[in-house]
Amino acid sequence: MANNLISTTFLFILSSIIFLAKSQPFSTSLPPSTLRPERQNLTRLHFFFHDVVGGPNATAVRVAAASITNTSHTGFGAVVIMDNLLTEGSNPNSKRVGRAQGMYASADMSNMSFMMVNNYVFDDERFNGSTLSVLGRNPVTSPAVRELPVVGGTGVFRFASGYAEARTFFVNETNGDAIVEYNVYVLH
Ligand SMILES: *[C@@H]1O[C@H](CO)[C@@H](O)[C@H](O)[C@H]1NC(C)=O
Ligand SMILES: *[C@@H]1O[C@H](CO)[C@@H](O)[C@H](O)[C@H]1NC(C)=O
Ligand SMILES: *[C@@H]1O[C@H](CO)[C@@H](O)[C@H](O)[C@H]1NC(C)=O
Ligand SMILES: *[C@@H]1O[C@H](CO)[C@@H](O)[C@H](O)[C@H]1NC(C)=O
Ligand SMILES: *[C@@H]1O[C@H](CO)[C@@H](O)[C@H](O)[C@H]1NC(C)=O
Ligand SMILES: *[C@@H]1O[C@H](CO)[C@@H](O)[C@H](O)[C@H]1NC(C)=O
Repeated sequence: MANNLISTTFLFILSSIIFLAKSQPFSTSLPPSTLRPERQNLTRLHFFFHDVVGGPNATAVRVAAASITNTSHTGFGAVVIMDNLLTEGSNPNSKRVGRAQGMYASADMSNMSFMMVNNYVFDDERFNGSTLSVLGRNPVTSPAVRELPVVGGTGVFRFASGYAEARTFFVNETNGDAIVEYNVYVLH
C-alpha cells in the first residue's frame, strides 16, 4: 500500500517534469502552407436526409419540451435529437453516404422554424470519417429552399466554410416522417 503510494507519487512528479519540459508558448504564428499544402477545394455534396420520427425505428426522438409546447402552433420549445440516415438517392434503401447527428429545436413562436445543430458524418469513399458542422435556421414548412451555414469540418473538410441548401422532398402527413434533399457547397 505504502509502496503503491510512493510509486504513484514518483510517477506524478516524473510526468510533471516531462510536462514542464514539453511546455510550449501559448500562441505561435505559422505560415499558411503548414496546414494548407494544397489549394482550397470547392466540393458540392448532394444527398437525401431521412428524418424518421415515428414508429419503432425512429432516428429522431423528442427529448424535451416546454409547458407551452403542446399548445404552441409552432411546437415552440420542443427539442429533438437525431441520428438520421443520409443516402445518395431519395429512397432510404439507396446507397448510404453518412449520418446527420445532432439536434433541432423549435425556436420560432410565430412561424414554424427549427434551429438546427448538425454534424454530418460521412462514410463514403474519400470522405469516410470526415465531418461537416452545420448550424442554422430552418423554416421547415417553407416550400422554398432553406439555406443553412456550414460552420466547420474535420478530416478532408478541415477549415470548411460554405452553405447547405435544404428542400423538402417528401413528408408523410400521418407520422411526420420527412425526406429532405440537401445540396451542400463547401470550401475546404
Ligand atoms: C425496423 O427495423 C427492423 C430491423 O432492421 C426491420 O425488420 C423492421 O421492418 C423495421 N420496421 C419498420 C416499421 O420500418
Ligand atoms: C404533450 O404531448 C405529448 C405527445 O402527445 C405528450 O407525451 C406530453 O405529455 C404532452 N405534454 C404536456 C406538458 O402536456
Ligand atoms: C411569418 O408568416 C407570416 C404569415 O405566413 C408572413 O407574412 C411573415 O412574413 C412570416 N415572417 C417571417 C419572419 O418569415
Ligand atoms: C470507413 O472507415 C472505417 C473505419 O476507419 C472502415 O471500417 C470502413 O470500411 C470505411 N468505409 C469505406 C466505405 O471506406
Ligand atoms: C482537392 O482536390 C484535388 C483534386 O481533385 C484532390 O486531389 C485533393 O485530394 C483535394 N483535397 C482535399 C483536401 O480534399
Ligand atoms: C406514412 O406513415 C404511415 C404510418 O406509419 C404508414 O402506414 C404509411 O405507409 C406511410 N406512407 C408512406 C407513403 O410512406
